[in-house]
Amino acid sequence: MGERAKFATKLGIIATTVGSAVGLGNIWRFPYEAGMNGGGAFLIIYILCVLVLGIPVMCAEFIIGRRSKTDTVDAYRKLAPGSRWHYIGYLGILASVLILGYYMVISGWTLEYLFRALTGDLTGKTAAEFKAEQTAFIQSDFRPLLWTYIFLFINYLILSRGVQKGIEKMSNILMPLLFVILIVFCVRSLMLPGSDKGLAFFLHPDFSKITPQVIIRAMGQAFFSLSLGMGILVTYSSYFNTKTHLIKTASTVAILDTTVAILAGVIIFPAVFSYGLDPVAGPDLVFVTLPNIFNQMPISMLWSGLFFLLLTVAALTSTVSLFEVAVAFLINYMHMNRKKATRVMLLVVALLSTICSLSIGSWSHVRLFGKTIFDACDYFSAIILLPVSGLLISIFVGWVLKRNISREELTNRNKLHEPLFSAIFFCIKYIAPIIIILIFLSGFNII
Ligand code: PHE
Repeated sequence: MGERAKFATKLGIIATTVGSAVGLGNIWRFPYEAGMNGGGAFLIIYILCVLVLGIPVMCAEFIIGRRSKTDTVDAYRKLAPGSRWHYIGYLGILASVLILGYYMVISGWTLEYLFRALTGDLTGKTAAEFKAEQTAFIQSDFRPLLWTYIFLFINYLILSRGVQKGIEKMSNILMPLLFVILIVFCVRSLMLPGSDKGLAFFLHPDFSKITPQVIIRAMGQAFFSLSLGMGILVTYSSYFNTKTHLIKTASTVAILDTTVAILAGVIIFPAVFSYGLDPVAGPDLVFVTLPNIFNQMPISMLWSGLFFLLLTVAALTSTVSLFEVAVAFLINYMHMNRKKATRVMLLVVALLSTICSLSIGSWSHVRLFGKTIFDACDYFSAIILLPVSGLLISIFVGWVLKRNISREELTNRNKLHEPLFSAIFFCIKYIAPIIIILIFLSGFNII
């Protein structure tokens, strides 16, 4: 191993980290959650969660990563030698591989739809046809797998080129593109007749819908959306330089991620209401309702093509970050070169994605705890592993690591005047662990 890889520029640091955070979760899950769970009231709670939970835990991961400048397992070995804290690193790797398993399959779907959009196959159909085609597609054996493997290969091309030439360069090109497409869509959507009804559904605050369960969902969404708890940000921040202002970076990433989530709602709901459709959940919204809407617009190929390009870009920068956690570990720990480490991970994920994809169709009878393998991967990683690992990370930084280390990292060894340090450290030490325990208990319906 030569010298530790580094991101080259400030823009690169923000673009890669925002690239990890902005994903499929922002574009369809957030708007729907907000719309159904109190609109503007949900949004306020979500923003509070990002402030008191998201930014502090992100800072905690940054402290661990930049201080140790190594992968997410070795980081804990360096900072707490002789202890067992490095199991947090393994937890993160396990969670990221499980998430990759099903995220890769959905990413494959976005490629299929991008292809269909560009070949004009998403025009001239009825809503029922869109639904029937989508169901047939995701349940079939071969075609979704083909796209998943293509998507995996694109990941390989980026990851094998390394931190600067692969990950950073990709993010520097794709993230600005993503923002431009988002803005174009916003303008288009707000110009539709009747868009105000959609905006009202999304943003009108309805505090009567706010229950403890909804608050917990908002917290969970903040956690997932900011890519916390998986060691991604530990790994990425190990590529930061000594001048990177950690609190500022965390705040910028959190603001941009939240902005994308809000913009996605501003795009989707006016369109759904303007065309008199139902705001349905999850994959159906993206793969059935939206193609149906674009189909009714003039120059529909352009709109559906742009939209699926947006989704593909969002998914790609997230999957690359998920991969990098394990790749960095293999490079360091098993002394593999980058290409080999990427290939090993590619094989592991290809296998898991194949099982996940088949579990929607031919293998849907195979159940783990009553769920398909696809749903089980999601449940086990997002509901169980993420909160556990996030909880351990905040306890580690708040209670095990010396407070002075956190101060040094967050103030760049006292070079920055950082009035927020005490507040952020308080959140890491007390608030975050308590909130995460609540999320965890709710996952098991204990509260
Ligand atoms: N943060 C991404 C999103 O909002 C998803 C993701 C989760 C990416 C976990 C990496 C790790 O979709």
